[in-house]
Order: sequence, then structure tokens, then C-alpha cells
Amino acid sequence: MEKTLVLIKPDAVKKNAIGNIIAMYEKNDLVVEDMYITVADKAILDEHYAEHVEKGFYPELAEFMSSGRIVVLKVAGEGAVAKVRAINGATNPAEAEEGTIRKAFGTDIGENAVHGSADAADAERELKIWFK
Ligand code: RTP
Ligand code: MG
Repeated sequence: MEKTLVLIKPDAVKKNAIGNIIAMYEKNDLVVEDMYITVADKAILDEHYAEHVEKGFYPELAEFMSSGRIVVLKVAGEGAVAKVRAINGATNPAEAEEGTIRKAFGTDIGENAVHGSADAADAERELKIWFK
């Protein structure tokens, strides 16, 4: 079964939305195979966001992502990678469709509630980083 990485970001944890977010994946026949709560440090974020570390928005993103507790989830199911990204909605919550997690819980392009791996290769890479 396909697996992907989900991070419930500090903004959504602060909104007490962990349960509601997990329920949205479960309602779509995705299964949480493993999970934990942590505060991410700079090293793991640099590894996770390798494609973004040189970008202008990265310092702010890293600051936000290490600003509080996050939930790290291994999510499995048929087409899990694409399914999670569809449920998450557009990166910018202002553009996210009704019924998506980012529409319900996102604030702006930085504080957008969740992360989902971009594709199968990224999912494999990210799961190795967060589930050693
Ligand atoms: P994600 O990785 O979080 O699932 O979202 P994504 O693929 O749709 O977005 P990506 O391009 O990978 O960007 C990763 C995260 O960086 C933040 N971001 N900020 N200020 C900006 O212009 C900007 N662009 C991206 C977002 O929090 C995004 O989720
Ligand atoms: Mg991404």
C-alpha cells in the first residue's frame, strides 16, 4: 500500500485541530500507520525542506515550523500521496477549496495547517527522515 508523510503544523496544533484533521484522512479511507508529536529542530527541517532551503521564504518557514509542537504521521492507502494532497487543498488557504483541511484550518501561505509529500519519491525520502 502506498505511504506518505503528513505533518500537522504548529498553527493547527495550537488550534486544537489534530483530531479533526486526522478524521478527514480517515474518512477518505486513509490509515494512520504511525504517528508522534515533536518539536522539530533546524537540522531535521533543513533535511525535510531540502528543495526550499535556499529560497527567500525559508527562514520564516523554518522559524514557524519549529515554533511549537507538530504531529508527524505515516499515512497509508491506495494513492495515498495524491489523496492526501487533495484533502490538504491548495498551498495558499485563500485558494483552497471548500472541504479541504487548508480551507478549514489554514491561515495564510505560511501557516497552512498541514504538509503532504509531493510525490512517491519524496514520500519515501521524507518518511526515512521522520521515521528513523
Ligand atoms: P507542503 O509541502 O507544505 O505540503 O505544501 P506544498 O507542496 O503545496 O508547498 P511547497 O511549495 O512545497 O512549499 C512548502 C511550504 O512552504 C511554505 N511556503 N511559503 N511565503 C511563500 O511564498 C511560501 N511558499 C511556500 C508553505 O507553508 C508551504 O506549505
Ligand atoms: Mg511541498
